[in-house]
Amino acid sequence: MAESSILEDCDSSIQDEQTTIQSSCKLSKKAEKRLKKYQAIVQLKKLKRKEKKERRRARKREEKVCDCNDGDDEVGQSTEVLKGNTAHTEKGKETKRDRCRMIRTRLKNAMKDGLCICIDCGFEKNMDKKEICKLSQQLGRLYGSNRQAQKPFHVYFTNLDTEGTIYKECVRVNCGFEDYIIDKVENSHFDIFRKDEIVYLSPDSSNVLETLDPDKVYIIGGLVDESPQKNVTLSNADVNEIYTAHLPIAEYMEKTDGKFSYSKILAINQVFDILLTYHNTGDWREALLTGVPARKGYVLKEYETGNETETTILQYSKLTL
Ligand SMILES: C[S@@+](CC[C@H](N)C(=O)[O-])C[C@H]1O[C@@H](n2cnc3c(N)ncnc32)[C@H](O)[C@@H]1O
Repeated sequence: MAESSILEDCDSSIQDEQTTIQSSCKLSKKAEKRLKKYQAIVQLKKLKRKEKKERRRARKREEKVCDCNDGDDEVGQSTEVLKGNTAHTEKGKETKRDRCRMIRTRLKNAMKDGLCICIDCGFEKNMDKKEICKLSQQLGRLYGSNRQAQKPFHVYFTNLDTEGTIYKECVRVNCGFEDYIIDKVENSHFDIFRKDEIVYLSPDSSNVLETLDPDKVYIIGGLVDESPQKNVTLSNADVNEIYTAHLPIAEYMEKTDGKFSYSKILAINQVFDILLTYHNTGDWREALLTGVPARKGYVLKEYETGNETETTILQYSKLTL
């Protein structure tokens, strides 16, 4: 029997019973059974309504995150990384809801079997208020990049104290932060992963990051140091006997002439974008071109194959993006 008719049935029985109650104040066994059934159905209905409301709220919140992160992206126009995997309406245009749903599915799948990248948020004491604000903005950008990727990472924010300034600042500056589809954990990555699985990325490491191994976990230090604090992550990793690596900037890029810093220390969202592009394309040259800002003074080295035009095309396409 349909739930609503059971309900109506029970309703009228209960009304009958109420009359009985009024006269006798004692329910028969049958009436008691009916009353219990009625109460159970009412309870179930309430629960279902609550769940539906919660689902609607979650969807609205995620759509809000979509709005915040999509910026000026026109709905219906897929970005490069979304190509080939888009959901469309009959008219062939992708609606915002389609796009949101697809992004959510990809992020949720990545949380099941994606390559793991942790942002170590345990450096709050190393930063002042302004640096924490910058870090929070970078975390927001990093999440925006992951949302756009066809093959996103399983992102963890580890050592994230929900009572701390980083968390509060993230909530303040990033729309929908509490609903980010990532793992936010107060624990350290050492409590989640084995030490031999971890690769801590550090600009001061003497090892080169050659590839991304799906069986490893890559950690980026959640640190903004306006006046660079050398070796912070390296010494931390050394103390914990963790393998470290630096991005292969010097391997694929060279200094260009001019007044540049030539610093190889990148912001966390730039490091993340490099890893994400490499993960999606398998090409370090394209990845580095995406993430290393031109103001650092690096250009791609010429291809060893002698194909001189390759570098020019890649660099030209970055300028025109
Ligand atoms: C702004 S940097 C902070 C650098 C800081 N002095 C340190 O000791 O790590 C933020 C994080 O991005 C990552 N990072 C930045 N540049 C990198 C590079 N060239 N190679 C590897 N990781 C890098 C590191 O994980 C680093 O902790």
